[in-house]
Amino acid sequence: MNLKTDQEIALLEKCSLLVGKTLAEIAKIIRPGVSTKHLDKIAEEFIRDNGAIPGFLNYNGYPASLCISVNDTVVHGIPDEKTILNEGDIVSVDCGTIIDGWYGDSAFTFEVGEVAPEIKQLLKVTRESLELGIEKAVAGNRVGDIGYAIQTYVESFGYSVVRDLVGHGIGRNMHEAPEIPNYGRRGNGVKLVEGMVICIEPMINMGTFRVKMLNDGWTVKTADGKPSAHFEKQIAVRKNKAEVLINYDEIDKIIKDKS
Ligand code: MF3
Ligand code: CO
Repeated sequence: MNLKTDQEIALLEKCSLLVGKTLAEIAKIIRPGVSTKHLDKIAEEFIRDNGAIPGFLNYNGYPASLCISVNDTVVHGIPDEKTILNEGDIVSVDCGTIIDGWYGDSAFTFEVGEVAPEIKQLLKVTRESLELGIEKAVAGNRVGDIGYAIQTYVESFGYSVVRDLVGHGIGRNMHEAPEIPNYGRRGNGVKLVEGMVICIEPMINMGTFRVKMLNDGWTVKTADGKPSAHFEKQIAVRKNKAEVLINYDEIDKIIKDKS
């Protein structure tokens, strides 16, 4: 098993905190009229200015520093000039960093201007489900306990959990064992051990859990065209409470100041 020392977790925290800061930079400038390409450019510059390397750029050939996924795009939307954000959109911004060979990876779904109440609720519930999952990410529990907590919560609102994409371990590679599904059964799956570092990333759909992949080989959309939300945090498994390596405090503050 791929356990990290406290020292290694401190390095991963540096990567993760920089992801949080980068997402806060995005929070400052996200608004109607901006292209997803522009957001990507700002993120890449910010990451490099902070002495890090964008974690996603060239990963398996991925062509950008952020994944920017609007409305019915679930994940892995590729930033481009022609995707302009509109009032009422929801936008998952997923960001990765590398410092000294260690990876940071986290995501936040932003609201652009005024968003319809039922879509606001999808975001709120998805974010809450991530926190419920994190509560279960303690030594002695199993991976299925995380998925169960997320799934039962979101399904109680009539939402569905994407099955085709899952969270993951992370370290010197962006994706390491174990997989962290956002669905599951209590007491099932790999046992969580202190020193594991994982990314929990619920992808929650308003309609069907089914997704489709576009011809670009990256963009994943909901099969029914209904909206999808995505929040991701990188955490270290500890004895009684997960050590969360990123926080949304700065992002939340910027969003609050804007409104
Ligand atoms: N957070 C996403 C994941 O865990 C990052 C995608 S990275 C990409 O899959 F570079 F492949 F797009
Ligand atoms: Co991830």
